[in-house]
Amino acid sequence: MSNSQDFTVTPWEVKGEVDYDKLVREFGTQLLTEELLGRIKKHTGDIHLFLRRKIFFSHRDLDWILDRYEAGEKFFLYTGRGPSGHTHVGHLVPWIFTRHLQEKFGAELYFQMTDDEKFLHDEKMSLKESMGYTYENALDVIACGFEPGKTFIFSDVEYGKTLYKMAVEIAKHITYSTAKAVFGFEDSTNVGMIFFPCIQAVPCFLPSILKSKNMPCLIPAAIDQDPYWRGIARFVAPKLGFYKPAQIHSKFMPGLARGGKMSASDPKSAIFTVDPPEMAEEKVMSSYTGGRATVAEQRRLGGQAEICPVYHYYHFLFEEDEKELAKIYHDCKSGALLCGDCKANLAGKVRRFLTEHQRKRESARKKLDKFIIRD
Ligand code: TRP
Repeated sequence: MSNSQDFTVTPWEVKGEVDYDKLVREFGTQLLTEELLGRIKKHTGDIHLFLRRKIFFSHRDLDWILDRYEAGEKFFLYTGRGPSGHTHVGHLVPWIFTRHLQEKFGAELYFQMTDDEKFLHDEKMSLKESMGYTYENALDVIACGFEPGKTFIFSDVEYGKTLYKMAVEIAKHITYSTAKAVFGFEDSTNVGMIFFPCIQAVPCFLPSILKSKNMPCLIPAAIDQDPYWRGIARFVAPKLGFYKPAQIHSKFMPGLARGGKMSASDPKSAIFTVDPPEMAEEKVMSSYTGGRATVAEQRRLGGQAEICPVYHYYHFLFEEDEKELAKIYHDCKSGALLCGDCKANLAGKVRRFLTEHQRKRESARKKLDKFIIRD
């Protein structure tokens, strides 16, 4: 947990302007260095946009994963989603990157849907609802282009029989005081939530058990999930005879409202993958920006790209060309580009992106069986 005056980052809440350098210090992770990026490039041929722009910016033991890989030992990927509602475009960022890693390293992917967690955490959520979103969200995962036969998506509830055995092995090593210190649980927290971190740790070791051989694990995920790995998975790994899972951490895609990440609980702040494209366009057009109060002021002072969600959208997902992105930044800062035009341009890009994603998402319905594993 990081809970300072200006921002909060826990696995269940991200609020305020996140100071990522401070998080890295508090969590004790490592920043990705140019040297490490150079090593990745040897295997991937180019540096992925998300690495170039430092959207994935921090890690644990990524150098070790590359050591193993270079010594001929394959790693698997593990990531997941808490199915609390429909997917928004911010969720796609780690998935798109995970797909890239799968392709370049020929890695299997285990994808956990924590329908148990979302049911336990959200008072109003029924189990039926969170299990339903497991399947809705799985369509978005598949739409990112993962490879059938190498990608295993599972609902915790439906795959519980397999997961449970490992979960109790883990749980035995975690005291309540550790769980409390890592996650900030309180007396009023239900006991399901207190046990749950053991379930989220299971996939770090599951392929090693299924294949009866120790396999290195790399987890691409937003940095808010780090407490699970630091506090539970990496702590129990040596006790159970497994490798510690490695991680690569991303930043949060900001919402269209001021401050904080894109949030499913504020529907206008997020663009959902199921939004009709025209609705998404409207959301972009009514977004908060870093613009000035009047056109005259904007022409004179320029816009504030640093704090503008519209600019961040280009930066994260919607402008891949570095030259174009630099031009948007420059024209904003110089006052040449006004917010209305900048938003209209982004809205068009968002519409085209969604139209394409929704086409792939629909065709994923027929492929679900190729990806879902259950007991
Ligand atoms: N707890 C995560 C969430 O609420 C879901 C999740 C489970 C996950 N396993 C993961 C996310 C591994 C990243 C990596 O979104």
